[in-house]
Amino acid sequence: MRLMVRPRRYEHVLRVADLAAQIARANGLDDMRAYAAGILHDIARDLPDAELLRLAPPECEIDAAHPLALHGRAARVLLERWGYQDRVVLDAVEDHTTGPRGGNPVSACVYIADVSEPGRGVNHDIRELALCDLGAALERAIVSKVTYLQGRGIQVHPRTLQAYHALPCVAQAAASPVPLRPQPPLPFES
Ligand SMILES: [Fe+2]
Ligand SMILES: [Fe+2]
Repeated sequence: MRLMVRPRRYEHVLRVADLAAQIARANGLDDMRAYAAGILHDIARDLPDAELLRLAPPECEIDAAHPLALHGRAARVLLERWGYQDRVVLDAVEDHTTGPRGGNPVSACVYIADVSEPGRGVNHDIRELALCDLGAALERAIVSKVTYLQGRGIQVHPRTLQAYHALPCVAQAAASPVPLRPQPPLPFES
């Protein structure tokens, strides 16, 4: 990792790995896998756009217009080519950019750690919540992100929408006539 990313990114990666492992431990999950995924998640983040596009061909307009959105998928491709085989870790690496789409709790740990590690200076509430209720923290993070983007007329990545619709609160709301309580928008970086 130290060879693949810029020095400041490497510091971020170490903070994400530490926090992801801490969140995993607090929720009775596999902290070693959370740490590994935290270390590896941004391995493609500093590659040139052309390399990201080669590793992970665009799936949608957003990918084509903003190749940085591909760095999670590209990271997975790189790791698989190098022989890495742990699917739990690979899923967490792939989905850290756009949001956990399945029921993999390690993906949630890494996603939350990435958006709330102390160096970001934002989302302290999500970090604190994740240490006692990972599901509630993930819900807040994804709902806030979608609300924030939609409120500004910014197109939401289809994979983020998939993560949004996979949330229990959203699935329940879709099946019920009672509307979701609106959440305050929060600033986000991918
Ligand atoms: Fe990233
Ligand atoms: Fe990151």
